[in-house]
Amino acid sequence: MTKKLYSFPENFAWGAATASYQIEGAWNDNGKGESIWDRFSHTPGKVENGDTGDIACDHYHRWQEDIILMKEIGLKAYRFSIAWPRIFPSGRGEVNQAGIDFYSQLVDALLEAGIKPFVTLYHWDLPQALQDEGGWPKRKIVDAFVEYADLVSRVLGDRVKNWITLNEPWVSAFVGHEEGRHAPGIKDMHTAVAASHHLLLSHGLAVPKIRENSPDANVGITLNLSPHEPASPSIFDRKATIWGDGYLNRFFLDPLVGRGYPQDIVNNFGSAMEFAQRDDLDTIAVPIDFLGVNYYTRKIARSEVVSEGENEPCTVFRGDEITEMDWEVYPEGLYNLLGRMHFDYNFPAIYITENGAAFKDQVVNSEVDDPQRLSYIKRHLKQVHRAIEVGVPVKGYFVWSLMDNFEWAHGYTKRFGIIYIDYETQQRIPKSSAKWYAQVIRANAVE
Ligand code: FCB
Repeated sequence: MTKKLYSFPENFAWGAATASYQIEGAWNDNGKGESIWDRFSHTPGKVENGDTGDIACDHYHRWQEDIILMKEIGLKAYRFSIAWPRIFPSGRGEVNQAGIDFYSQLVDALLEAGIKPFVTLYHWDLPQALQDEGGWPKRKIVDAFVEYADLVSRVLGDRVKNWITLNEPWVSAFVGHEEGRHAPGIKDMHTAVAASHHLLLSHGLAVPKIRENSPDANVGITLNLSPHEPASPSIFDRKATIWGDGYLNRFFLDPLVGRGYPQDIVNNFGSAMEFAQRDDLDTIAVPIDFLGVNYYTRKIARSEVVSEGENEPCTVFRGDEITEMDWEVYPEGLYNLLGRMHFDYNFPAIYITENGAAFKDQVVNSEVDDPQRLSYIKRHLKQVHRAIEVGVPVKGYFVWSLMDNFEWAHGYTKRFGIIYIDYETQQRIPKSSAKWYAQVIRANAVE
């Protein structure tokens, strides 16, 4: 029996993704300023095992070797982020030329290797100096972000043609300022909502600047999105689903497409949104060329409110396949989500800017066999294919991650890479998923 071949469109951007703080190391080399993640990880008790990104994968010194590995896999595109404090050690004003040179060389070498750079401007490593001024919750950060976006797009915009303003503003705002599990470690809902607004406003103001400096570029934003489903058919669980979807998804999607903030969510926040000014919503709704989707799992919403006469809501379904992050493996969720992004929100193009899984890996005879990760990626790619077949304009897919790295508050305990990192020796070992991904790219198809 011949196996079905899922062929992808020509020029599909087969990629892998990373982020500066998670891989670079060199936290205070060559003029780099301190970031909120440096401060946070250096604070005892914040990160598992006291891990820090001080050295991480030492990519700052090993980037050439890493590009050779990307080339071996055959990547067509590579998504990485720029460490803002490497460019502006104090957040604004004085520029650190060594920082610019680092990214400029990286971009040149990628292009030389035939790999398209997709640059994320902000993947959570805010200069600590800006945090000291009040950070995202204060409106004056917006000018600093625009200054930064302007400079970077001016110096790289001749060669970089794909830009992502922000990575997962929901996580920056709410995990950083409401849950406090991420830097800067604040726990206040109102502060988080203000941070969220200023993140979106920064995006809205940066997009035209980037377009000015980088003609013909595509500019987008990356959101972490998860479809929500009720744990049971009870009215309470359905309400919890609407709230969960609104908080995580609609609170970002709606203003980006000009629908404004969803009123049900604003009411639920109990926020007067007094930090929002008159034209902000128009600014935020600037047209973008693509939406970046980070998808890992779905959410099953369960209400904590049970009224008299109602049965205790129970989870009536949940797959039993779980990753090391405790996230359910649910590939169909990606298909559902992509359909909604196209048929409801009508984004002109979509990239999956992150998708992947953490599993326990073991080195055996200098090799790492990771069938679970391979299967995770394969099944999600089939759902991407399905979405393309019904007309969703998905233009590319980036595995999270190119290499194992510093997984934020989990430190080095979670491995997401298709390349294994031995943190003692900094040896890189492509896992079996990387070898399989190389075949997929070569065939432009999944079997
Ligand atoms: C996303 C982040 C990325 C990585 C993955 C696992 O939320 O954007 O940096 O940590 O999760």
